[in-house]
Amino acid sequence: MSGRSSLTVVLAAGEGTRMRSSLPKVLHPVAGQSLLAHVLAASPKGEGASLAVVVGPDHQAVIDEARRCRPDAETFVQRERKGTAHAVLAARDALARGADDLIIAFGDTPLISSATFERLRAALHQGAALAVLGFEAADPTGYGRLLVDNGRLTAIREQADASATERAVTLCNAGIMAFDGRRALSVIEKIGNANSKSEYYLTDAVAIVRDLGLEAVVIKTSEDEVRGINTKAQLAEAESVMQTKLRQAALEAGVTLIAPETIFLAADTAFGKDVTIEPFVVIGPGVSIADGAVIHSFSHIVQTSIGKKASVGPYARLRPGTSLGEGVKIGNFVETKAAAIETGAKVNHLSYVGDAHVGANANIGAGTITCNYDGFSKHKTEIGSGAFVGTNSSLVAPVRIGNGAYIGSGSVITRDVPDNAMAVERSQQTNREGGATRYRELKTRGKAPKGG
Ligand code: UD1
Ligand code: MG
Repeated sequence: MSGRSSLTVVLAAGEGTRMRSSLPKVLHPVAGQSLLAHVLAASPKGEGASLAVVVGPDHQAVIDEARRCRPDAETFVQRERKGTAHAVLAARDALARGADDLIIAFGDTPLISSATFERLRAALHQGAALAVLGFEAADPTGYGRLLVDNGRLTAIREQADASATERAVTLCNAGIMAFDGRRALSVIEKIGNANSKSEYYLTDAVAIVRDLGLEAVVIKTSEDEVRGINTKAQLAEAESVMQTKLRQAALEAGVTLIAPETIFLAADTAFGKDVTIEPFVVIGPGVSIADGAVIHSFSHIVQTSIGKKASVGPYARLRPGTSLGEGVKIGNFVETKAAAIETGAKVNHLSYVGDAHVGANANIGAGTITCNYDGFSKHKTEIGSGAFVGTNSSLVAPVRIGNGAYIGSGSVITRDVPDNAMAVERSQQTNREGGATRYRELKTRGKAPKGG
């Protein structure tokens, strides 16, 4: 924004004990992405935007996630949990570089939008030394109350330190704030811990800024946007709010969702034009669906790219590393994994295609299995373009079926099949004339016929 540099410090040191999980709180997923990933995606990026993430001790996984999302992220460890201001100062080296705008965000508020960060920054550009994000809380218990006098923010009072009158205030601190970066460090360093919890409260920055004769302002947003996650119930609520948003965005982008409330999307789901998704479909992370594709009911899709006019399901399971070319058909009870299936190929019924390449226009019959795992390692199956694999065939990898080759139904293929060859691997059929009649006579000798 307007060429001003920014530093965003994301506080992610919370242990999240109320999640009752061994996973650090900020790594729990909403819409297929960690809480932290959502916050990092919304925070300012691009030229002049730097990022610092403050994590707790022994949280290497949080550091890894921060770097995965934003390779430019600097990470800092807060060794002891002494409050939000203390946590910000863990990133002192980054603060000391003096970006124009310093933004503080919490790693556990996944619904925050980049537009809100920009609104906070805009308030700085209009002269405020501190802009605090506030919301009207349905139930303000536990939040810091924003004390406002004549439209100006004078202080933030934490629940534990608030008087009865202050507790009646419903305008609350969302926790996200933006500082004039040139003054931030000296302000935050002045914060003490003379309060009921003996913690260094970042919220005390407001009173300090006011005492310096500078301006602090409130920027308002909805409670939904700043929901902080502390429990699994709150995680589920956030998921629900996020799904509603994603469905709305998909509908606005022209995707046909027949029963939106039954369709689950990921934050990064990408759609082309004229895509249709039938009821009861679950889409995990890393999925793109190109123009005109149709996803039929009860399909589950993760890390897959679906080509134009492809048709998937009903009841298909597309696992990571699947790519479907244009017009590909994946039918019911088909599972794919690490499989590239080229233009026009069909896998219509009851098959497993894993670690495989299927050439254009190949036809994979019902019940075909790529036997990719020998109990020790995975092997690849290569199926040529235009090949026809008869039903109930097992393709024991590593194996190559040539272009235009034909596999007789029920074959167990262990050796490569040349281009345009026909491979049949099954025992000879024998027909005994009258054999059925003789068998029935043997079984019914001396007995009345059944069912009569
Ligand atoms: C904080 C605010 C409160 C606001 C509320 C919004 C303060 C003092 N209070 O309260 O005004 O209404 O958030 O949800 O800022 N953290 C650290 N290290 C610490 C302490 C906290 O990294 O030593 C991180 C936590 O992981 C969390 C965030 O800072 O992401 C907020 O901490 P939390 O303990 O949840 O603060 P609240 O009591 O909720
Ligand atoms: Mg909190």
